[in-house]
This record gives sequence, structure tokens and C-alpha cells, in this order.
Amino acid sequence: MTRKIAILAGDGIGPEIIVEATKILDFLNSDMDLGLEFEIGLIGGAAYDAYKSPFPEQTIDLVKAADAVLLGAVGGKKWEGLDISVRPEKGLLGLRSELELFANLRPALLYPQLVAASTLKPEIVSGLDLMIVRELTGGIYFGQPRGIRELASGEKQAYNTLVYKESEILRIAHTAFKTAQKRNGRLCSVDKANVLECTEFWRNIMDSVAPEYPDVELSHMYVDNAAMQLVRAPKQFDVMVTTNLFGDILSDTAAMLTGSIGMLPSASLDINGKGMYEPIHGSAPDIAGKEIANPLATILSVAMMLRYTFELGTVADRIEAAVNKALDNGIRTSDIYSTGMQKVSTSQMGAAVLSGLK
Ligand code: IPM
Ligand code: MG
Repeated sequence: MTRKIAILAGDGIGPEIIVEATKILDFLNSDMDLGLEFEIGLIGGAAYDAYKSPFPEQTIDLVKAADAVLLGAVGGKKWEGLDISVRPEKGLLGLRSELELFANLRPALLYPQLVAASTLKPEIVSGLDLMIVRELTGGIYFGQPRGIRELASGEKQAYNTLVYKESEILRIAHTAFKTAQKRNGRLCSVDKANVLECTEFWRNIMDSVAPEYPDVELSHMYVDNAAMQLVRAPKQFDVMVTTNLFGDILSDTAAMLTGSIGMLPSASLDINGKGMYEPIHGSAPDIAGKEIANPLATILSVAMMLRYTFELGTVADRIEAAVNKALDNGIRTSDIYSTGMQKVSTSQMGAAVLSGLK
């Protein structure tokens, strides 16, 4: 059996962290005869530089032919002045929408070894284990019309549109309820139903699906309150489901609860479980090339890939155990460093996980 993985390193720290993740995949591939095949492609600013497009035809063909995609990160100062239609971020958004990766799973898990790295008090975050299910191919990120127009008065006006079709909300609802079923059976849907019709519609659809999952307890929360609750008492949450934009924002907050955004993997799945896997942090241009980026979010994204797309849960467990072991041994990149630990570079962290696997 062959399993094709498209590898898109992208920009900034993308290439550095992807190297470490592919070392893990390479090792497991030969050690366990997984039949993995890798193909490398360009996305984001790197693709723009080569082809004047952040998501060129070659890459589209590559990801369509692959069973799973591993992505580093996109974006950077160099491309900020480009027209929004060809900015690196458009490559990522194009990939998500081209493959219809509507379900974005972002787990925020606090490793007990990193309690001291969180900016929150240990009693608030220790034991934290929540999952954000973010709708990823709809909402204001993709809504039409969008742009900048000139009003009759001559004044310019910019606009975006928040839209959701019933079918888009239904499918993410089912993903979220099923995710909650496999965890602790609690689902909190986050909206702004007191102000936005679109998210009142969202809330009603979540309610309409709930009877199909009697073992899941559904609650609703306004997004402003959810942002507050995430830093006040994050352990009240099991699974949160929300729109594209709210999920973008809340998942960064949730990430920081765990000590560092450098620890959080993500899976973006289509209806058949084909997926794209990426760390939730961005390209971090400020630290790119310095060999200090934390590769663990990418390595943990590989574990998610093995678990969700390839149904190799035990191999995923092996990676997660090796990450745990590296943390137990006091190995820390600078983002998760605390006194008494051993500060290491990107590749040293990769090597520590690799040796834990062996
Ligand atoms: C994320 C990122 C992206 C997003 C950017 C890079 C387009 O912030 O994956 O959370 O907004 O979705
Ligand atoms: Mg984001």
C-alpha cells in the first residue's frame, strides 16, 4: 500500500520545521514499512517567487493527487505589499477551499511538563485538553461580495460578507458532535447570535442537529464571552465549534494557554477524511533562519495525519510518546524554555524526538 504525502514547506520558519517533521516520517516509514511516498511542492511566497502565484497549477495537481498534505507556514514581510489576490495567505486559503477542507481541528493540550511555560496560573491551565472545531472554507473569509468600492458621495468603502449556507453549517455540526462523542461529550457552539443574523442561523442549525446526538450536551456561548472564558476558566470546555473567523481568533488564544503557540498542531479535513496538516502558528518571519523555531507543532501535526487520514493511531501514539519523552528530559526550544531546562535549537529538538522514537 502506498500513501502519498505532499509536502509544502512554504515561507519563514516553514522549511526549518518541515525538515524536522520529515525526518520523523522518514524514520517511521523505513522502521515500520508504512509505504509513505513524499512529493515536494511550493506554496505561499515561495510559490509566488517561482511562478507569480501563491498556489500554482503544479501545486494544485500535486495536492489533489496526494492522500494527505503536510504544510509548514506561509507569509512574510517580503510579500506584504503584493495585491491581496496573490499574497502568500491566498495560497493557504486556496488550498483549503480547493480541497474542501471544511473541518479544522485544533487541539489545545497542555503538556504537564510545560505548566510553567504558560502565562496563566498553573491551577487555571493544568490538565487543559480542549478541541476547537473551526469551520474552514466558508464565512467571512470566503464570502462574496468583497472588496473596496466608491460610494455616490465619492467616499471609498471597504466590505466583506459573512455568509453561511445551511449545508455548510450542517456538515461542520456533524463533525463537531462526532468529535465530542469521542471525547467527553460536551460541545459548546460559539456565535454572535445577539447581533449577527448569520450566526443566529448557525445557532439554530446546531440546535436542530443536537437530537441526533443525545449523548452530547450542547451549549451556546457568545464569542466575546468565550474569549473571556478561555482565559478565565478554560477547563470548562471540551469541544468548541465555531465559524471561520471566530475560530481563527479563539484558537490563537487557546494555543497560548498551553504555553506556546509552537506546540499546537492542526488537521483540516474534507468529507472523506483526506487532510492537510499544519502547525497553527504562522511563518514567524522574525525568527526565521535563526534555528530557534519549535518544530513540535509540526511533528505533532504528522501524528494527527497518521491518526486521521491513514488510521495509524498506534504510530501516532508513538510520535506523541517521543515528544513527551523529549519534554520529560528537559529539552526545550526557547519559546517553551523555563529555568533549569536545556535550551536547544530547532534541529536539536527534532533529534531529541527522533531518538525517543528509536
Ligand atoms: C491560521 C492562519 C491563517 C488564517 C492565515 C495565515 C491565512 O492565521 O491558520 O489560523 O487566518 O486562517
Ligand atoms: Mg490564525
